[in-house]
Amino acid sequence: MHKTTAIYPGSFDPPTNGHLDLIERGSKIFDELIVAILRNPDKDPLFNVSERVAMLEALTGQYSNVRVDTFDGLTVDYADRVGASSVLRGIRALSDYEYELQMALMNRKLRPELETVFMMPAEKYSYLSSRLVREVAQLGGSVKGLVPELVEQNLRGKLDPAFKLGEFPHDTRSESRKFRARKKA
Ligand code: PNS
Repeated sequence: MHKTTAIYPGSFDPPTNGHLDLIERGSKIFDELIVAILRNPDKDPLFNVSERVAMLEALTGQYSNVRVDTFDGLTVDYADRVGASSVLRGIRALSDYEYELQMALMNRKLRPELETVFMMPAEKYSYLSSRLVREVAQLGGSVKGLVPELVEQNLRGKLDPAFKLGEFPHDTRSESRKFRARKKA
């Protein structure tokens, strides 16, 4: 029987619960789903590519038909290399549509046989983006419930090395306030 492989390309910096929601949905409709992290040397990411691979591998380990990979260059060329017939992308709100439509149509122009499949994450994640998660975390806000616990911990470790080293064992301030206090210092 013909096996359908899809790629789910993105930056995943960091992976959010919205991404995982989409991965779960995608894993149900494709035989194989490859979460493909763009290696983009132009960007200044919060998590490097290896950190993002490690997080996504840990977070998708329960899906036997999902694997994590990295790519650079065109998405359509990567899809070709791994034998994928579809590109999975999430659409959260109308505001995503224009950018996603442009990308899907450009990809179609470059490789007409590659289909873009749009799926909607659960509405509770409709406002969620990696950019906002980064911003909120960097400014000391809570991202609980927006990202998996593993990502939440890694964000804390990344943004507040003192938290990782356990420098505040007797400090009763909340982690976010500690972070702000350290930033001011
Ligand atoms: O999660 P993101 O950052 O919105 O993902 C964007 C991504 C990686 C899907 C897009 O930037 C992309 O496909 N980049 C690879 C280069 C490419 O193929 N560009 C032409 C797309 S029309």
